[in-house]
Amino acid sequence: MLLFLLHEAYIWCLIHGLGPKHFFLNSYYFVFLFQPLKEKENIHQVYIVHLQFFRKDQTQKYIVNDQKPKWSVQNSIIPVGTRMIMMWDVVGTSETPERMYFTTISTYVSCCLISGFGHLRDFFSRILLLPFTNDNLQGYAPICLEYEDFYMRRAYHRVQDCFARPIASAPDAWVDVLEINWKYQEKVLDRTTKSRRCLNLGSYNYLGFGSFDEYCTPRVIESLKKFSASTCSSRVDAGTTSVHVELEECVAKYVGKHSAIVFGMGYATNSFIIPVLIGKGGLIISDSLNHSSIINGARGSGANIRIFQHNTPSHLEKILREEIAKRQTKTHKPWTKIIVIVEGIYSMEGEICKLPEIVSICKKYKAYVYLDEAHSIGAIGGTGRGVCELLGVDTADVDIMMGTFSKSFGSCGGYIAGSKELIQYLKHHCPSHLYATSISTPSAQQIISAIQVILGDDGSNRGAQKLARIRENSNYFRTELRNMGFKVLGDEDSPVMPIMLYNPAKIPAFSRECLRENVAIAVVGFPATPLMLGRARICISASHSKPDLIKALEVISKVGDLTGIKYFPAAPEKQEKNGIKLV
Ligand SMILES: Cc1ncc(COP(=O)(O)O)c(C=O)c1O
Repeated sequence: MLLFLLHEAYIWCLIHGLGPKHFFLNSYYFVFLFQPLKEKENIHQVYIVHLQFFRKDQTQKYIVNDQKPKWSVQNSIIPVGTRMIMMWDVVGTSETPERMYFTTISTYVSCCLISGFGHLRDFFSRILLLPFTNDNLQGYAPICLEYEDFYMRRAYHRVQDCFARPIASAPDAWVDVLEINWKYQEKVLDRTTKSRRCLNLGSYNYLGFGSFDEYCTPRVIESLKKFSASTCSSRVDAGTTSVHVELEECVAKYVGKHSAIVFGMGYATNSFIIPVLIGKGGLIISDSLNHSSIINGARGSGANIRIFQHNTPSHLEKILREEIAKRQTKTHKPWTKIIVIVEGIYSMEGEICKLPEIVSICKKYKAYVYLDEAHSIGAIGGTGRGVCELLGVDTADVDIMMGTFSKSFGSCGGYIAGSKELIQYLKHHCPSHLYATSISTPSAQQIISAIQVILGDDGSNRGAQKLARIRENSNYFRTELRNMGFKVLGDEDSPVMPIMLYNPAKIPAFSRECLRENVAIAVVGFPATPLMLGRARICISASHSKPDLIKALEVISKVGDLTGIKYFPAAPEKQEKNGIKLV
């Protein structure tokens, strides 16, 4: 019973944001764990050891050595009652292994406790014949996968109020978030009719087309009246309207390819197209952080799959060389084809793909390039044409251009653009074109109208203004967050900016505190990210005004202080102390 109470108290601390603040985040710890840093190939290594002293806002950042950490700093006097976090940051690379030993240890201890006590409780439930799953039929295997079911019951349900929050308005710069009645231990969220007006930092509404638009919305309403909400048919039956034909022409022209094919869902575009393009005997080389739709498509294709280090062209080249030399495993025949799959902007990192290098490697080894522009199309590049336009890559060098309409265009669906032969082939073989209901006509009309606004074909310069705005907003917001001391991922110009929270206990704490201050932010944790790399993912929109951004920064800063996630506070003035150079 005592153990049970302790466990419940512990969980309470973990899930009630401010509980952990006192219990975990501001306690006094001394962590003296040092490990040699692993040399990583192809990485220009400049090591900085950050020692952060959290006491009365006293924070200092020591550059110890520009080659490798020297541990002499261990001997420096650390004031009693100071919490110390050490991080090794490899500067100048997209791989930034964060090694926060205290955070790591406390995270794994938390997970072991939650998992251990969960299993204990399940065990006693079984012995005492208490039903712990709802409908296990006698003699049947459990319908839910065991681990997933356990994870849902013992972990996710405790923080579920932070995810899938229902909204009651358009996903504009401000959004109505429905309030939820949820008490600890209750599994079902009871949605109320009350809502809270929140600043929206969670929707992918990059260009602001997610809400009423003076040009798009009247046209969408017109097409709803004329064609209704659904075509009630697949594209090859009665599901192709004049709007669908116009959309495909418009998309092909916009992205700079000969032809395009559109689908009702971005996720299904990847997961259905990849198996049509490649199968047994083929090789897919996929970035390690590619989206789940790509992973599912690749797995479903039956092709061999190799993963290369995230956004690291040299590693891609190494794998290509190895695989071309090795050939197919059993037959030793050459690969029937090789497809390299990358994203324009990585959705969980906000990083922009190193496309020019990747394209030139693929050309050298005669591998096809498949580029998923879900987050980059419409959002970056001079006229919103995505990563090719931004980085000056000729679209002729990208064989398969994929993108979604659910982000910058304020609609839904996905497209593949490529050569005439490729699109003809897909139209005859892709199951989501042949058997699934086509994209709804009003959604298709929304995309056409949004592209017209972006290109100025509506007769205004709103499109150009939106593109300039999203760039300015994103760069301003990212810079301010970094100046405040947050670890923010992503590249300049990218509207996706994850703030690293690391410890999973900080995910609900951060999310709930922001909501309390009327700022809605999407948080992401395990299993969508590795256990230790929990984060809040901010999506900036062209519809955010400067006062919106200032409010967001104030709230995030306040909550960041409260939850202890300013891992890289700004350095005070330059000074020398104990022979160590302070910056
Ligand atoms: C890279 C990437 N590809 C595909 C998709 C799926 O797109 P949709 O949400 O439009 O189905 C997403 C979703 O966010 C994504 O991030």
